[in-house]
Amino acid sequence: MVQLTLPKNSQITEGKVWDKPEGAKNTREFRVYRWNPEDGVNPHIDVFYVDLDDCGPMVLDALLWIKNTVDPTLTLRRSCREGVCGSCAMNIDGMNTLACTKGMDEIDGPVKVYPLPHMPVIKDLVPDLTNFYAQLRSIEPWLKTVTPEPEKEWRQSHEDRAKLDGLYECILCACCSTSCPSYWWNGDRYLGPAVLLQSYRWIVDSRDEATGERLDNLEDPFRLYRCHTIMNCAQTCPKGLNPAKAIAEIKKKMVERRI
Ligand code: SF4
Ligand code: SF4
Ligand code: FES
Repeated sequence: MVQLTLPKNSQITEGKVWDKPEGAKNTREFRVYRWNPEDGVNPHIDVFYVDLDDCGPMVLDALLWIKNTVDPTLTLRRSCREGVCGSCAMNIDGMNTLACTKGMDEIDGPVKVYPLPHMPVIKDLVPDLTNFYAQLRSIEPWLKTVTPEPEKEWRQSHEDRAKLDGLYECILCACCSTSCPSYWWNGDRYLGPAVLLQSYRWIVDSRDEATGERLDNLEDPFRLYRCHTIMNCAQTCPKGLNPAKAIAEIKKKMVERRI
């Protein structure tokens, strides 16, 4: 069962309504989840008004505007602001997505921002991804070979390289895993869509020589078989990938090797 590290009496309450920026003619309301484990206050929703004439168009621009001009204690992760690093993943307007690629104009009404769901929260919009990364490490996401290394590079046909399309683009943002009900309830044992997609990326790589070992590692009632094809993962992936399909391919390989 997923362990949340919220305080015992952890009802989310109304928080502070911050002043509208002075002189701003064009503002947008933001309702942002706040929780600081050090101040003993329950999680709450703060209301901010962002000056759209002083801010870029993306949700991340607005959050950074809030941090830089209103409340410097607002805590979030971000790095590339290009949809590449995956660090700004959060729940925006009810969907897990990347704050840096989500336009404010795609959202009606106040912009609601929460951390990725069903993960322990470290502070405000920052989830604890320790378990997620431990699970990634467990599938050994690197090329494993026994034949001696070639002098130049491991070669691959165009057809074999094409098998990695739809897999190599994953930026490990965790939007899919944290939208998956099976992962919510069994996140300590079920690997979840992101890690299973990564696993398939190495299983299907023509250069990898550990396919059997990789499949053995997934042959378990929880690690792989908790996917019930609910498809939240594919719907939410900000890179347009389909982890459910990758999981189905792994299951197919499990069956094929038994025949
Ligand atoms: S499959 Fe998509 S949603 Fe899942 S971790 Fe990769 S990029 Fe993020
Ligand atoms: S299809 Fe499988 S992995 Fe994707 S959300 Fe549903 S149960 Fe989770
Ligand atoms: S900041 Fe890197 S994906 Fe958003």
